[in-house]
Amino acid sequence: MPRRPLLLATLLSALLAAGPALAQGAPPGMPGTSAIQSEDARLLPVFAPHGMVASQEAKATRIGVDVLKRGGNAVDAAVAVGFALAVTLPRAGNLGGGGFMMVHLAARNETVALDYRETAPAAATTTMFLGPDGTPDPRASTATGKAVGVPGTVRGLAEALERYGSGRFSLAELVAPAERLSREGIVVDDDLADSLPRAAGRLGAWPSSRAVFFNGDRPFGWGERLVQADLAATLRAIQAGGPDAFYRGPVAARLAGAVRAAGGVMTEGDLADYRTVLRRPVRGTYRGYDVVAMPPPSSGGVHLIEILNILEGFDLGASGAGSAAAIHLMAEAMKQAYADRATFLGDPDRITVPVAGLTAKPYAARLRALIDPERARPADAVKAGDPLPFESDQTTHFSVVDRDGNAVSNTYTLNFSYGLGLVAEGTGVLLNNEMDDFSAKPGAQNAYGLVGSEANAVAPGARPLSSMTPTFLFRDGRLALVTGSPGGSRIISTVLQVITGLIDFRLNLAEAVAAPRIHHQWRPDALLVETGLSPDTLALLRARGHRVVVGSASGSANSILVVPGGLAGAADPRQRGTLADGQ
Ligand code: DON
Repeated sequence: MPRRPLLLATLLSALLAAGPALAQGAPPGMPGTSAIQSEDARLLPVFAPHGMVASQEAKATRIGVDVLKRGGNAVDAAVAVGFALAVTLPRAGNLGGGGFMMVHLAARNETVALDYRETAPAAATTTMFLGPDGTPDPRASTATGKAVGVPGTVRGLAEALERYGSGRFSLAELVAPAERLSREGIVVDDDLADSLPRAAGRLGAWPSSRAVFFNGDRPFGWGERLVQADLAATLRAIQAGGPDAFYRGPVAARLAGAVRAAGGVMTEGDLADYRTVLRRPVRGTYRGYDVVAMPPPSSGGVHLIEILNILEGFDLGASGAGSAAAIHLMAEAMKQAYADRATFLGDPDRITVPVAGLTAKPYAARLRALIDPERARPADAVKAGDPLPFESDQTTHFSVVDRDGNAVSNTYTLNFSYGLGLVAEGTGVLLNNEMDDFSAKPGAQNAYGLVGSEANAVAPGARPLSSMTPTFLFRDGRLALVTGSPGGSRIISTVLQVITGLIDFRLNLAEAVAAPRIHHQWRPDALLVETGLSPDTLALLRARGHRVVVGSASGSANSILVVPGGLAGAADPRQRGTLADGQ
């Protein structure tokens, strides 16, 4: 590997910190992959030449790595990680939610997008989240049984395995580590210990959830053992009967019963009817890289590419990472994209989303011309554009790459941390509150302040609009980066900044994932920044007209980068217990 002598000290300490994987030396590059920093192979905290998993919870990462070591491919490992996180990171890993899995198949050089997003029950109606006076009732869409979308995770993971697994592992084998951890229990630490007390109010409101997560009158705390016996039984049923054991029969009856007892409308029929959808990824380019990301019903890929297209016309790198000049341009581009999101995006099976128009370079050029490099535009002055018609705390993200260059970029969610907070009695399954991602009515904001239109109205069987952005970057047709993040509306800007960090600001992956992030979503008209930017940078942004709000940290961009000789991973340091590891 070419290395700059100046970095020798850093390299040595990285070598010592990274342990045996690095000491083995670098084997030749992986098939079908492309190093993103070819002339500057600065070492990263974790280096694994033969395959890697980066997830938000260390036990789940290790389970995935073990599958890779036993000859599994990236999809086999991802399925094991997906089930494991439902046990070890129950605030976001799930059986009772939904998500998106992007899969890259190296041998076929093909990338697919598996949509296992929740759907609205058949009895859902457009006005179901409006109160008697016609105004939105956020409580109904976040804290009652009406909030629950028909879960897609179990069918999604099972289908991913069936279509793209190596064939060396059965579903039952990949569910086994999750079943064991739920049956034997896990020691509460790291993120679980941090997140349980914060969710105590919402979990404690339901006796069935209290029975799982509480020790007496408080949630289980640091060092105590959390056993999830009902969840273990549900996982055993899936091992024995496949996804149908979840979507039909006694488990389905319990899930639907729990939702209806909490005031919702989901039936066993809705569960039996649940289908995943295989979609064509949305594609763009950025400074020579191909960006391949999740299409609608996620807004993520479309607006990631729209923002990158706008930014491509500016020399961000010359301004420098964290500079007011670069942040200003990024915020102005974000504002425009989120205004478009509010107007155009929804379930593509119900409405026509102008994906091609929104991701076209000429459209971005028109929007770029509206940006003043010196002055922020007030949100009121930013309107949805006129793209060509289609002419033609909580979510979690994990990334996997195997030794053959196959890759998985998976983001899945219950929406809020621990979703609705309701465990369906007798199943151990936490239910989502994803229905809040619909627009209760045109112009209404959801819990993330996102505005929507008729395009994202509630309709029977519809999928609520998402911001989840599992993403791949390719260079010359070869895999270069796997990334994605939780963070609600801030997901798109988080993924954007991992990419600009690497490409424009020449950060290494650890730096790009850790660097303070900014976010603007058009409405509210505020520039959110994490702590870590200098006071003089903030002053310069305020002088340009931004209403700067220093807010909490957001996101968990557990990512894998192709570097010369193998893979480098960075787990997001914003939560305790995240891990990128490999072999
Ligand atoms: O699908 C979406 O866009 C949201 N339900 C994601 C929620 C989320 O990321 C919460 N995590 N921080």
